Amino acid sequence: MTGSGSVIEKVAFKRRSVRKFRSTRFDVGILMECIDIAKEAPSGSNKQPWHFVIVTDESLKKALRETCEKGEKRFYSHVRGELAEWLKSRNLDWKKDFLTRAPYIIAVFGEKKAPYSRESVWIAVGYLLLALEERGIASLTYTPPNRDEVAGLFNAVDDFRLEVLIPVGYEEGYKIKEPRKKLDEILSFNHFFTREGKN
Ligand SMILES: Cc1cc2nc3c(=O)[nH]c(=O)nc-3n(C[C@H](O)[C@H](O)[C@H](O)COP(=O)(O)O)c2cc1C
Repeated sequence: MTGSGSVIEKVAFKRRSVRKFRSTRFDVGILMECIDIAKEAPSGSNKQPWHFVIVTDESLKKALRETCEKGEKRFYSHVRGELAEWLKSRNLDWKKDFLTRAPYIIAVFGEKKAPYSRESVWIAVGYLLLALEERGIASLTYTPPNRDEVAGLFNAVDDFRLEVLIPVGYEEGYKIKEPRKKLDEILSFNHFFTREGKN
């Protein structure tokens, strides 16, 4: 940490992806408050090309899980190499029980034709994650391999693409934070450089 002690610093260093949730429900007003913050993100030409859907309905959560797991089974049957190793080391597989276990899911859509749509939507997602963390709500940016198929469950208009499903809730147990690179590994002045000093 830099030691400034700011709220942003604290939540950014503390936030982790959580895949095990308690099913405890809480006031969805908290989620609305966080989305109110996310919508303050910058966007290409200020198009604000995002749409958020809060999923509270158990049967929709079940359908989302079934559809996502169908896509995940296909994905896991093909995945090889470094990614396969990483997934295995984290005990990740096609099962996505967090989609039914988490009390709520926030689906984030982006307007396809807006300028810099994806960049803009993901900045808003970043704001959202920090706002959730600040309120003690754990989250996961889950990107199903079959996002178009999943979008179908929301009757989303064709102009919008599903970017991410974010299950949210209180964490079950505690998972340690994935390590981060050090500042001097990712920062240089005036010239780009690699750790080996090449540019
Ligand atoms: C764009 C993006 C897509 C991601 N997709 C998935 C996903 O589909 N499934 C998953 O379990 N985690 C997903 N993650 C979470 C990452 O695995 C996680 O952020 C990373 O391992 C670092 O861990 P941390 O968030 O706990 O610090 C995604 C993260 C990002 C930013």
